Amino acid sequence: MKKSSTDDGNILILLGKTLHLRSEAHISRSPDWILANPKAIDRMLRRILAKPSGGWRVVCAVAEIHHVPRRFRVEGLDIVVWRADDKLMVAPDACPHMGASLSTGHVRCGRLVCPWHGLELDRGGHGRWKVLPAFDDGVLLWVRMATEEPTTSAPVIPARPTQFVDAVVQMEARCEPRDVIANRLDPWHGVHFHGHSFARLVVLDVAEESITLRVAYRVVGPFVVEVDATFTCPDPNTIVMTIVDGEGVGSVVETHATAIDRGRTMVTEATLATSDRPGFFVVRRLNSLIRPWMRWAAERLWRDDREYAERTYELRQVQSPAVPKGAQRRKMAVSQTDED
Ligand code: FES
Ligand SMILES: [Fe+2]
Repeated sequence: MKKSSTDDGNILILLGKTLHLRSEAHISRSPDWILANPKAIDRMLRRILAKPSGGWRVVCAVAEIHHVPRRFRVEGLDIVVWRADDKLMVAPDACPHMGASLSTGHVRCGRLVCPWHGLELDRGGHGRWKVLPAFDDGVLLWVRMATEEPTTSAPVIPARPTQFVDAVVQMEARCEPRDVIANRLDPWHGVHFHGHSFARLVVLDVAEESITLRVAYRVVGPFVVEVDATFTCPDPNTIVMTIVDGEGVGSVVETHATAIDRGRTMVTEATLATSDRPGFFVVRRLNSLIRPWMRWAAERLWRDDREYAERTYELRQVQSPAVPKGAQRRKMAVSQTDED
């Protein structure tokens, strides 16, 4: 155990592996509010938003879907998800007969049975009703939506550890997916806004499309685990934090933002934690006991970050009203003339 301190002098006791030494010559010690440059964050966000998605959006955790159909809403479309012969199926949640919500029906021998008149539906479809392309990556379920951009046969799955304990949380936010990504492109708020979780956070490197930081995560009291982590975006709706040094190298936290409707976004966050410690196989066996704690920690952070993302969205609505700028200027000129 090593002793250290926070920027304001509080004692920290570092648990776990010691990080590799880094040249600190290029690390700025300016205050976080100066380092968090909104224009630079916005430039990075624009580069990320220009990336292809192949039409793929995250729907939910695979483990949440059993043989009872469930309804989700993605980009204004109600979809039903069910499990048929261990394969997950996704389709529009409206019966092709008279429009009943299929998610209120049931599954019989892998076929989705409509609650109104018993029509049985499967991957073969019925008239214009067709199942949607879906992808089960082992942790998350994705659906491919009809978009203007070229579609791909599978989503981009971030590099994940081979052995892990996992937990997935979902939380709805009143914002757009870009606000969720923008929140994570600003690590400088970490210590100030999430003081309950982070004791110290230094941004080590900001590259074209990645940010690397050193963060001391609070375990309990003054005890912290310090790691280096890198944020990257494999597609415009996903931001991934990967631990690159310290305890748990290779662990990832994937944050996926899926639009529900205009101004409503579902945040799906998957944590896949790994370790090269010999006792990790025991931890894996205890995944179901550890999962509630992992969810609690992720939800606590996201409650704050949701507030941040919603505020960003709210401000954008005020700053970019529906009236085009030229029309606004004309309107102002007219009202000034009126006052004259
Ligand atoms: S509405 Fe589904 S079978 Fe009639
Ligand atoms: Fe945050």
